Amino acid sequence: MQDRLLKLGVNVDHVATLRQARGTDYPDVVAAALACEAAGAHGITVHLREDRRHIQDRDVHALRQALRTRLNLEMANSPEIIEIALAIHPDEVCLVPEKRAELTTEGGLDVAGTIEALRGPVDRLNAAGILVSMFIDPDPDQIAACAAIEAPCIELHTGTFCDLPADARASELERLMRGARQAHVLGIQVNAGHGLNLENLSGIFDVPFMDTLNIGHSIVSHAVMVGMQSAVQAMLEAMTAYQGGTP
Ligand code: PXP
Repeated sequence: MQDRLLKLGVNVDHVATLRQARGTDYPDVVAAALACEAAGAHGITVHLREDRRHIQDRDVHALRQALRTRLNLEMANSPEIIEIALAIHPDEVCLVPEKRAELTTEGGLDVAGTIEALRGPVDRLNAAGILVSMFIDPDPDQIAACAAIEAPCIELHTGTFCDLPADARASELERLMRGARQAHVLGIQVNAGHGLNLENLSGIFDVPFMDTLNIGHSIVSHAVMVGMQSAVQAMLEAMTAYQGGTP
């Protein structure tokens, strides 16, 4: 068992989801990211989707300027987004599959099946000094394909594990453990994420060699709940200034 710090990258996409739902300029994605950093997060993750449903280009630019930790940009292997990444130069890029109709990323990237389409973009991102990560299922062929295109990092998709009932997770945990070992032997950094929350988190602690966990939805959801009391108190306090209006 390794004795090392497990790092946390906080995905703040859903702060932007709240903002986009009403077209307001709040909640402020950068302020939320800085609060994550102040709490000790080791990095901030955002997914610039092709449909721009939550994070906008201006958010990625602003985060690049404001963050003191690491910026991890999740994105599809699309020519437009690759150019944006090369211009903004995040510390890390995580290549993910993207379907317009999905609620969130479904399944890992098929690196083995799209190896030729990935080779050029990965080469360019590597040459730019951006840490390239591949969001993949813990499948030996996918991990071997990541090594073949010289991706220095993978993010193991924990969504399948998290979606299973707690008493049915053993074989998926085994797959994650085997995948992490295979990647480590190949010299690939191992990150993990998707669907993790305070209830299921410790279930993946048997997975060795993990560097960073990327967690979003459960943290933003928890923040809503722990912040609700003070948000209501602030509104009630503001309402005490009412003097009866002008009859
Ligand atoms: N990692 C990747 C590659 C993702 O696409 C997502 C979701 O945007 C996450 C991690 C975070 O997942 P969750 O919001 O379920 O914590």
